Amino acid sequence: MVERIVKAGIIGLGARAETLLATILEMDEVQITSVCDFSQERIDKILGIFDKHGRPRPTAYSDYHQMLEDKELEALFVPTSWNSHLRIAIDCMNAGKNVGIEVGGAASIDELWQLVHASESTGVSCMMLENTCYCRDELMVLNMVRQGLFGELIYCEGGYEHGIGDELAYGYNSKLERTFHNMHRNGDLYPTHAIGPIAKILDINRGNRFLTLSSHATKSRGMALAMKKYIGKEGVPFLEGDVVTTIIHCANGENITLTHGVSLPRPYSRNQRIQGTKGIWLHNAKGIYIDGISVCKEVIDIAGNPYLSYEWDPVDSFYEKYDHPIWQEYRNNILGGHGGVDALTIRAFLDSVRKKTATPIDVYDCAAWMSVTCLSEQSVALGGMPVPFPDFTNGRWINREPKPDSIWAL
Ligand SMILES: NC(=O)c1ccc[n+]([C@@H]2O[C@H](COP(=O)([O-])OP(=O)(O)OC[C@H]3O[C@@H](n4cnc5c(N)ncnc54)[C@H](O)[C@@H]3O)[C@@H](O)[C@H]2O)c1
Repeated sequence: MVERIVKAGIIGLGARAETLLATILEMDEVQITSVCDFSQERIDKILGIFDKHGRPRPTAYSDYHQMLEDKELEALFVPTSWNSHLRIAIDCMNAGKNVGIEVGGAASIDELWQLVHASESTGVSCMMLENTCYCRDELMVLNMVRQGLFGELIYCEGGYEHGIGDELAYGYNSKLERTFHNMHRNGDLYPTHAIGPIAKILDINRGNRFLTLSSHATKSRGMALAMKKYIGKEGVPFLEGDVVTTIIHCANGENITLTHGVSLPRPYSRNQRIQGTKGIWLHNAKGIYIDGISVCKEVIDIAGNPYLSYEWDPVDSFYEKYDHPIWQEYRNNILGGHGGVDALTIRAFLDSVRKKTATPIDVYDCAAWMSVTCLSEQSVALGGMPVPFPDFTNGRWINREPKPDSIWAL
């Protein structure tokens, strides 16, 4: 039973808006009353989706500033582009609207301070709709970490490795923004799918924080090959290294390795690894090892000497006992796109809008996670030199106010 339907709008009606909408139209707790894009073609396509679902058409705008004058609008989803969503989010907060921005890295530290100051000065929330934070395995591991099963955390890994050279090559002709970021920038351009769940597991901005990062990029070959293969074009320079590796050092002594690679042909992976003094989750091994639960037996080597052999347990063998409370209910009634995590992320955002509580991924999380992109560009340009993270909380990470008492809190 939904407490209250939130009236919301969407700014930016591209491919991501379509998948978000496909999920939103299956949900009772939100009504999209306004949409905005400066492309009429995109507006027409999105309005057609409402028609197809037999839903009333929202009001359509080509200028979001006009949309922000609508007093009934409480929340805005902003799936525009990496170079525009922060500015739009700032305008939304200044107009008193709660805002959910899509994922992607920042171009400068300055725009992130502007985002933080807009939220602090208006008291309005800005949530990053980082859906990987609500994935079943990430949430289960978070739950297990909070119960102490991994011991003290030491090291994490994550990544965004996804062969999309074809999409980026076709995007050269269709003016896809992401293609041009890969042409002109060299750093971890898409860190948040990986860093989001890790940051929550490590309590970043709540008792811990990112201190420094250092990034290295390989040579760039994949996009030249993809451009030739898919659109028959040669000689377009792409700056982005095929694999960019970033190491982040945290105040509590943990290290995180992030990997970004989108130009070489390969299946998708986020490469997650969470490792503590008592256990490890390794996505690529599809396994978890926990001291005292998993098998660790003494075996004898060929020379007759004993050694300990640690064995992986399959991740799904932990679901029954350790699924996060969100997934204990949700696993039997999954809804919408990306295996159900889009609906969970949207619900988490709407719950805080409705209750006027802090969002589970707040403006300090947005700033810290998105800063990885511009800081990694600086580090790559400096030959891998460590660069410091700003403390966007201005010292409050040491003793933050408690999280809202909510199932959605991370
Ligand atoms: N969370 C996820 O799983 C996921 C998946 C895909 C994409 N994304 C993110 O979603 C965002 C959008 O991706 P996309 O593929 O839909 O991009 P897109 O380029 O297809 O769509 C962006 C749309 O925003 C519009 N737009 C840009 N600036 C605007 C402005 N000032 N006012 C009105 N409209 C404006 C553009 O005209 C375009 O139609 C990106 O940040 C991307 O990283 C997230």
